[in-house]
Amino acid sequence: MSPGKPHLLILATFPDFLRKPLEESFVCHDAQNMGAPEDIRAVTGQGGTHYDEKILRTLPNLEIISVFGVGYDGVPIAYCKERGIRVTNTPDVLTEDVADVALALVLMTARRFLEANRYLHAGGWQKALFELSTKPGGKRAGIFGLGRIGKAIAHRLEAIGMEIGYHGRKPQADIKYPYFSSLNELAAWSDFLIVASPGGDATRNVVNAEVLRELGSEGTLINIARGSVVDEPALIRALQSGVIKAAGLDVFAHEPNVPAELLALPNAVLLPHVGSGTNETRRAMADLVVKNLRAHFAGQRLLTPVPELA
Ligand code: 8YV
Repeated sequence: MSPGKPHLLILATFPDFLRKPLEESFVCHDAQNMGAPEDIRAVTGQGGTHYDEKILRTLPNLEIISVFGVGYDGVPIAYCKERGIRVTNTPDVLTEDVADVALALVLMTARRFLEANRYLHAGGWQKALFELSTKPGGKRAGIFGLGRIGKAIAHRLEAIGMEIGYHGRKPQADIKYPYFSSLNELAAWSDFLIVASPGGDATRNVVNAEVLRELGSEGTLINIARGSVVDEPALIRALQSGVIKAAGLDVFAHEPNVPAELLALPNAVLLPHVGSGTNETRRAMADLVVKNLRAHFAGQRLLTPVPELA
């Protein structure tokens, strides 16, 4: 142990390119092997990690939480504010990759590329041509959550000829896309409803049975944000009964567990939360995690504090 280094609690399994630099600058502990709680001055984990307030309360000298992800819905922000604990995340560096995954899910669900791939592998092509699919160009994409990622998704979908609308807390100045004041209205307008909002209590299960009914039997749900935003059992029922046509999902309610009913559905394209999962982006995210922690302990300005605590 190096007494000079601040002690850091790591609440996730990190790749070597993050673990190594953390070990250079900090005495690293895992949840199973935390050592003395009063030594811990920093905590880190993934975007989806639950930074349980009960655990944070046991760390009297905690100064900073550095999240390896843009979403910090697992961090009890009000509690951190009250205690003066600083919180950082990794915005911007992953925007393009996550938006690429949304575009891919639109294309995969509309053009049925996964099914077509399975068809070819199963020798179907020798017997008959693959069924026709749906052209995304000319269709309407309703984006729920027009933040940085939502906007990057909108640019991509415009480029393939889709019409864009959005819903969020409020209409945004200088945005040319039509604003819908409720999620129901956006869903009713949309051919593809795309979830790009933050997770957390404010958006928990807001994509519910009613919203899915509004999306309708020709509608597709895409989720690259958080599984918590969608009522997963309601989504499964909607897909099973034809209330909606298809879904493209990169995130789930209880990751890494995906309900068997969802796995069994041919009209669901499912990815294992790979939104930011490229070498380039994960390394850029890792760099931000380390730089934020080092900046804090060097008494320098944080690079990317979360807006609530900036
Ligand atoms: C990652 C994410 O899965 O940024 C987020 O909020 O959910 C993803 O980028 C994760 O945080 C990587 O550890």
